[in-house]
Amino acid sequence: MHGRHLISVADLSPRDVQRVVDMALHTKNGQSVAILGGKTLALVFEKPSLRTRVSFDVAMQQLGGHALYLSPAEVGLGEREPVADVARVLSRYVDAIAARTFKHETVEELARWADVPVINALSDGEHPCQALADLLTIYEKKDRWQGVVLSFVGDGNNVARSLMLGAAMVGMDFRIASPPGYRVARALVDKAESLAAASGAAVICVESPQEAVRGADVVYTDVWASMGQEKEQAERRRAFSDYQVNAELLALASPDAIVMHDLPAHRGEEIADEVIEGPQSVVFDQAENRLHAQKAVLALILGGEGA
Ligand code: CP
Ligand code: NVA
Repeated sequence: MHGRHLISVADLSPRDVQRVVDMALHTKNGQSVAILGGKTLALVFEKPSLRTRVSFDVAMQQLGGHALYLSPAEVGLGEREPVADVARVLSRYVDAIAARTFKHETVEELARWADVPVINALSDGEHPCQALADLLTIYEKKDRWQGVVLSFVGDGNNVARSLMLGAAMVGMDFRIASPPGYRVARALVDKAESLAAASGAAVICVESPQEAVRGADVVYTDVWASMGQEKEQAERRRAFSDYQVNAELLALASPDAIVMHDLPAHRGEEIADEVIEGPQSVVFDQAENRLHAQKAVLALILGGEGA
């Protein structure tokens, strides 16, 4: 992974994913080594963030480097100046760029022009760092991926897309229930199906949340309206009204199923309070793992082959 961009989970091989998770597991309980001494990561964010921003910043500190946060008002990606210019200027100052953008094309364009690695810190298309942390969490909780059934209930959004690709890559069955009009696009499902064929997993897209959740080992949901979709909130609330992960739906899953949510969560919408606060919820372990997974990503991309 040294020197490479991370824009989509599909940029990684199954072996890369395994290396990230292995390294994260290894360093999670150990001492951090300052392998990124003197290195700087720029955080270029067009949208708000708690987990991603803080975990990248702390990850760089723990690895001996540092992070520089650049707010939307400061940079004005594509507004104050062209994305291509921002990419080329930042490349002269920093060792890597983590970017959170509205359009997926913006993070792709940054990567096209930057001379340093660009990491997608969430775009409207994907959230690869979240998926890597989630694979780590599932591995920790279930001791394996092969044969695990991961059911996503809700919007076929950035989080769902990255998770679908990641699950398919590591041999985990992925089921997704979304209402018509909110499904993952066919081209990405095709890509996930071909990865799943190689890993021995299955990708199943359905409309019924009950059908998706029956017997599942992991029940995952995310907000109905993502950042940038605020105007569609009322319409989405109607479309997703039968897609809440509540005690009744969770009762259909395996009795030892875990509940995941990337956060921030909207209690009473996509997830019931009793479920997110219940004994099956692992959402804070999941949030913590953003730090461990990203330390591994940064070490592998920036730290060289010996990392
Ligand atoms: N899950 C996640 O990416 O959270 P933030 O938007 O707070 O970074
Ligand atoms: N799908 C959500 C994820 C937030 C971490 C969004 O894009 O707003």
